Amino acid sequence: MKALVLTGGSGVRLRPFTYSTPKQLIPLANKPVLEHVVTHLRELGVTEICLLTGDWADAISAVMGDGSRLGVSLTYLRQDQPLGLAHAVQTARPFLGDDDFLMYLGDNILADAAGRVAEIVAEFRERRPAAGLVVQKVADPRAYGVAEVDTDGSVLRLVEKPPQPRTDLAVVGLYYFTAAIHEATDAITPSARGELEITDAVQWLIGRGSEVVARRYSGFWKDVGQAVDVLQCNRWLLGELTTDVRGEVDPVSELCGQVVIEPGARVVRSRIEGPAIIGEGTLIEDSWIGPGTSIGRDCVVRDTYLLDSVVLQGASIRTPRRLHGSLVGRFATVGPGEQGDPGHRLMIGDHARIEMTVA
Ligand code: TTP
Repeated sequence: MKALVLTGGSGVRLRPFTYSTPKQLIPLANKPVLEHVVTHLRELGVTEICLLTGDWADAISAVMGDGSRLGVSLTYLRQDQPLGLAHAVQTARPFLGDDDFLMYLGDNILADAAGRVAEIVAEFRERRPAAGLVVQKVADPRAYGVAEVDTDGSVLRLVEKPPQPRTDLAVVGLYYFTAAIHEATDAITPSARGELEITDAVQWLIGRGSEVVARRYSGFWKDVGQAVDVLQCNRWLLGELTTDVRGEVDPVSELCGQVVIEPGARVVRSRIEGPAIIGEGTLIEDSWIGPGTSIGRDCVVRDTYLLDSVVLQGASIRTPRRLHGSLVGRFATVGPGEQGDPGHRLMIGDHARIEMTVA
């Protein structure tokens, strides 16, 4: 079985980050989202993987390489425009041939410590339905593909982002397909929003009487669509780390909970409460770093109280005011202004967001 990972799309909701990096490369627990995806696929027993890229093809291949570092073989194909998930399947046909495959949305995180997804995928591989869906109960299904599922797990109907959903079962970003899907993607036409929808292709299979089944998954699942989602995925993945201290921690500093200090990092007169990770070559001085925080490589954090945040490579932070729920981009600086300056000074990029406490 092969796998197709979708890494195109525009990532509008994650601006300004997606001006300089695709959302699939945003680090969670200091590893790009795509690395979590590819590692999960390898754990599911799939090593022949195609990354279907959009405009960020070069950045993605520079980070992911040929896959050997992660024990898989990566092939790259290009989708010129994000014309929909079914269009993505059509574009990847030269790689997929007539093989069965998993399609994984490259911005989805399924942290599946219990191995439930592995059980579901093993069942699909054995049974070989035309399409196998993973579904999850969600509070507001209107933003998802929504499935109506019979008691035996057969899918009766699938609708994309229905304004009035008939069930609360959302389709998770991991699909199983046999070659039957290709006939379906060729048969459908673009939806009202101009995309070739995978839900329409699967609905086409149902209409033709092909077997389409769904299995429920209740473990962690989220896509990194918006900043709050990035923080939530990061928190979850940090919770799965085991303590590993390879950098230097001075005798007056304290670490508690699950804490990873990468090689070359230095912790000086600080307290780090996990789950947290401090990247290679980073300096933490006179600071308190709290749960849910990932700090990338080569950052400098001084006199700072920081928690529940993701800080990217090369950033520099100095603020004794509590900073939380924040995403700090590469080589960004957060710090005090000139002494005596009566106000704040900002130099922020397009679509950035600053929330200040009015004290
Ligand atoms: P989405 O979350 O639907 O889209 P997006 O990345 O464009 O985000 P935004 O709405 O913020 O602009 O896409 C889900 C995943 O599938 C994501 O990894 C991008 C990828 N994708 C493709 O590779 N090709 C496509 O044609 C589409 C629509 C999405």
